[in-house]
Amino acid sequence: MTVPLLIDPFARPISYLRVSVTDRCDFRCVYCMAENMTFLPKKELLTLEELDRMCSAFVRMGVEKLRITGGEPLVRRDIMTFFHSMTRHLDSGALQELTLTTNGSQLARFADELVSAGVKRINVSLDTLDEEKFARVTRWGRLPQVLNGLDAAQKAGLRIKINTVALKGFNEDELFKLTEWCASRDMDLTFIEVMPMGDLGGEDRVGQYWSLKDLRGQLAEHYTLTDLDHRTGGPARYVQLDETGQQVGFITPLTHNFCESCNRVRLTCTGELFMCLGQEDNADLRTPLRASEADDLLEDAIRAAIARKPKGHDFDYSRQRADGQVSRHMSHTGG
Ligand code: 5AD
Ligand code: SF4
Repeated sequence: MTVPLLIDPFARPISYLRVSVTDRCDFRCVYCMAENMTFLPKKELLTLEELDRMCSAFVRMGVEKLRITGGEPLVRRDIMTFFHSMTRHLDSGALQELTLTTNGSQLARFADELVSAGVKRINVSLDTLDEEKFARVTRWGRLPQVLNGLDAAQKAGLRIKINTVALKGFNEDELFKLTEWCASRDMDLTFIEVMPMGDLGGEDRVGQYWSLKDLRGQLAEHYTLTDLDHRTGGPARYVQLDETGQQVGFITPLTHNFCESCNRVRLTCTGELFMCLGQEDNADLRTPLRASEADDLLEDAIRAAIARKPKGHDFDYSRQRADGQVSRHMSHTGG
């Protein structure tokens, strides 16, 4: 049975779904979560079976890339069952890529299983190589645990991309250290501009907005940067450092210049679909999912949601709430 593909009102095919499988995390990064978070009650969450139905519907409708996020996806109980259930879509050829974004804390336990489920590449969030600073920015995290996880992941054969949130006065002094470290371990590196979400700016402020334009300028003083024009349909731009041969990416979510090629939507762990990271509009997919055992209602709801995907986002300090914040946390929408 062929199902029409998902094309939004601006003729953009939706081929990439990011799925948050939990709002929980074993870290409390200052730019992401408050120290005392209230997490969702379990009944609000999609079960692993519901996540399977949800993702399988999207895959049927043309999603080729699935990224599992959180919170921290690897702290969800039995999450490997879900990964293994997605392997069938890789085997059928419908899904091109199954991947995840993780803080790395559980990789020593799960790296081999991820590989056996068909995961080839992962993104690992890491903002500093200094133990004390790592403890400060993640509040609950410990650097050696993450470094062990990275070792295990590389040993298992996973390709790693490090995601580093650029924080002025926090990891500015580690720009070259982080870059060289990634090059020496053959890991890709992407810098992310900090977004006005969560509790950044509270008592735990560890850094402030560090513009990637400035960061890039600093890199260019030490390396020869060649622009690479490959795009991923997302906000990342890539350069090559000629001296190391390494690719470095920049994600600037506050700029609008990537919306025209946007190919993605985000599903929260409660089954809300966000059509655009910078806007509050979302569609409840849990109700149609739970309303019937067949997927017709769900598919209709997905199509109706995609028909509302906006042309561009509104991630502007002046146009959101008065304090410039999007009210939800990243752990809810899943980065
Ligand atoms: N700004 C930028 N990146 C953020 N992340 C979480 N909160 C923010 C924020 N406010 C990132 C994490 C990780 C991914 C899951 O989202 O660092 O790379
Ligand atoms: Fe957890 Fe990632 Fe948020 Fe840090 S940024 S608290 S690791 S979900």
